Amino acid sequence: MVELIGNKKINLAVFISGKGSNFYALAKSSMLKKSKFKINLVISNNRKAKGLIFAKKFKIKKKILNFKNKNYTENKIIKLLSKDKIDLICLAGFMKILSKNFIKRFKGKIMNIHPSLLPKYKGLNVHERVIKNKEKYSGCTVHFVSSKLDSGKIILQKKVKVLKNDTPKSLAKKILKQEHLIYTKAIEKIYFNL
Ligand code: GRF
Repeated sequence: MVELIGNKKINLAVFISGKGSNFYALAKSSMLKKSKFKINLVISNNRKAKGLIFAKKFKIKKKILNFKNKNYTENKIIKLLSKDKIDLICLAGFMKILSKNFIKRFKGKIMNIHPSLLPKYKGLNVHERVIKNKEKYSGCTVHFVSSKLDSGKIILQKKVKVLKNDTPKSLAKKILKQEHLIYTKAIEKIYFNL
């Protein structure tokens, strides 16, 4: 567990590239009275990311950054994170790979959510591969980010049954529903021992 001073809420920055349904779930959960965190900032590398509409809905500051020059952009992010007193970065469908230096600097302070039972099925097109391999179970994982893709320490997982008639789409939908629940739980587990 991470030591917190006093009873303060932790400040999150969420990084997205697409639909942002996990961002939405985190934002919704942050609005609950009992919530242990607050989202101060959302960052997207994609100005067309659908999830950006939730920034407006929840009055969360948004920044759109193009990653053409990764070093320059990451330095900009570092300044933004410090300005907004961010304690934790939550990657949620963020499709850019952060540099080794950036990850090292925020060791233990970056989480990601992945739609498989890691260490199985790292990378993309997870559901297609799970179905092709006739797996009985799949699921989702919240993990710390390390410099190796989808390989950092696992924080929380949720198992989901793969049915005979599941398609990549139906499985993704089923798993996404669980993702929306476990991200909040994973944060509470690390910071509040809940
Ligand atoms: C989720 O399945 C997440 O696990 C993966 O990308 C997807 C993002 O979905 N990393 P959304 O943008 O949060 O709706």
